[in-house]
Amino acid sequence: MRIIQISDSHISLKTPQRLDDLKRCVEAVNAQSPDLVVHTGDIAHDANAQEYQQARSALDELSAPYFVMPGNRDNRSELVAVFSDRLVMLQEFIQYSLEDYPVRMLMIDTVSTQSNKGRLCNTRLQHIKASLEAGDSRPLIVFMHHTPFEVTEIPDPFQFEDWSEVETLTGMFAQCEALRAVYCGHVHRNVGAELKGLPVTAITCMACDLRKGQITDEERQRPEYKVIDF
Ligand SMILES: [Fe+2]
Repeated sequence: MRIIQISDSHISLKTPQRLDDLKRCVEAVNAQSPDLVVHTGDIAHDANAQEYQQARSALDELSAPYFVMPGNRDNRSELVAVFSDRLVMLQEFIQYSLEDYPVRMLMIDTVSTQSNKGRLCNTRLQHIKASLEAGDSRPLIVFMHHTPFEVTEIPDPFQFEDWSEVETLTGMFAQCEALRAVYCGHVHRNVGAELKGLPVTAITCMACDLRKGQITDEERQRPEYKVIDF
């Protein structure tokens, strides 16, 4: 099975170029013949309905089924209004697992209404625990917007409001034998770490103008996505 992760399209009516960035990325992803595509959040920049509709029309050109989750720039209700068939709700959160594939996938909603940083309340943590424990012999991978590891390259390496929630999360990860990897976005650069042997990575944004870090002109312009093969 081939899964492709894309992230941080930040579609903006003020920066129309980002819609072209997303369209170029969709073309490049289709050329890789994925079975499934996952967008790890910050779909829109200002979270208005028109931005979500633009993103939707571009993402609908994907040749594979795709699923979405929110980032800190997204507004859950605006996102759900346009992408209701590309996500599953857990009460007011957009958090769910996909169980009908050879690889199990858990999509974690890390969005806070208080800040741009990540949050994991009891409702979400309990669902994560149950989902991790509900596994069978299939491998499991996790997608989440915010990075649950220290990103040393950025001024504030801890992108959660309360790091003890991350410690609870990573403790749950450590108990799950089927868990193979965790895939994030948010930090707009390609970075990674290991949490007790578990690979955790973040990919840079599809929006070329928002890419961070020391990158070449080629790296700034190319379509960015991550191929995950099982
Ligand atoms: Fe973000």
